Amino acid sequence: MDNIRTSLITGASSGIGAALAQALARPGATLHLSGRDKTRLDMVAASCRDHGAAVECRVLDVCQAVAMADWIGAAGQLDLVIANAGIAGRSPDGGPENATQTRAIFEVNLGGVLNTVLPARELMAMQSPGADGIRGRIAVIASIAAFIAAPDSPAYCASKAAVDRWMVATAPAARRNGIVLTSVCPGFISTAMTAGYQFTMPGLMDPDRAARIILCGVAAGRTRVVFPWWMGLAARAAGLLPPRVMGVLRRP
Ligand code: NAI
Repeated sequence: MDNIRTSLITGASSGIGAALAQALARPGATLHLSGRDKTRLDMVAASCRDHGAAVECRVLDVCQAVAMADWIGAAGQLDLVIANAGIAGRSPDGGPENATQTRAIFEVNLGGVLNTVLPARELMAMQSPGADGIRGRIAVIASIAAFIAAPDSPAYCASKAAVDRWMVATAPAARRNGIVLTSVCPGFISTAMTAGYQFTMPGLMDPDRAARIILCGVAAGRTRVVFPWWMGLAARAAGLLPPRVMGVLRRP
C-alpha cells in the first residue's frame, strides 16, 4: 500500500468506510472522506488525523451526481477511490423491500456508485502513470449478495450484482488505460447495516479485519475480492440452485 497516498472514500462515517479510512491513515497520507452525518464523519476524520493523515471531509449524498463530480474533480491527484456508500432495506415480515426502499437501494447502490466511479475514471485517465504503469485504482464495495437472488432482498442483490458485473466487465479496458478496477464482495460484516439482523450470520467479521482484506486485494490489483472465500463459494453454489429452492436464502 506504499504507493497509495491519496484516497477518496464515500460513506466513510461508519462501518466498513470508517474502517477503510482508519486503515489508510498514516503520516504522508491524504484522505478525502464523504458521508451524510457530519458529527460521525468528523469523529472518523479526527481519529485518522491522530494517525498522522491529512483529512478533508465533505457532507455529501452520493445520489447528487453534479456535486459528486465536482467533489471528485477538485480532489487533485487520487491514487485510490472507494465507492463504499450503500444501503439495504428489510421488510418487517421478511418479504421483499417495498417500492420506496427498492428505488432508494438502486439510487444509492447503483446510481451512487456510477456517480463515484465515472468521475474518478475521468480524473485518473488524466493522471500520469507511476513506474508500474498505474494511474490510479478504483474499488466498489459490492457484496456476496451479488451472486444470489435472496427473496428477502431482491433490490439489494440486484444492485450489487449490477455493480459487480459492471466493474469486472469494465476492468480489462480500464487496465489498458492504467486504471485498476476492483469489485469487493464481502460476506457478513459487523456494522450498523447488520446490527438489527435476527438471523444467524455465518462468518460474521469485524470491519477492521474486512478493511485489511479489502486493501490487500486492491493493492494487489485484483479484479474481484471475495471473502470469506468459503462464503463466496457457497453463494456461487447457491446461485446455481433452481429458483424454487432459493426461498430459504438470506443475503449478506
Ligand atoms: P453502514 O450502514 O455502517 O455504512 C454505510 C455508509 O454509507 C454509511 O456511512 C452511510 O451514511 C453511507 N450512505 C448511505 N447512503 C448514502 C448516501 N445516499 N450518500 C452518502 N452516503 C451514504 O454499513 P456498512 O456495512 O459499512 O456498508 C458499507 C458498504 O458495504 C455498503 O455498500 C454495503 O452494501 C456493503 N456491504 C456490507 C456488508 C455487511 O455485512 N455489513 C456485506 C457486504 C457488503
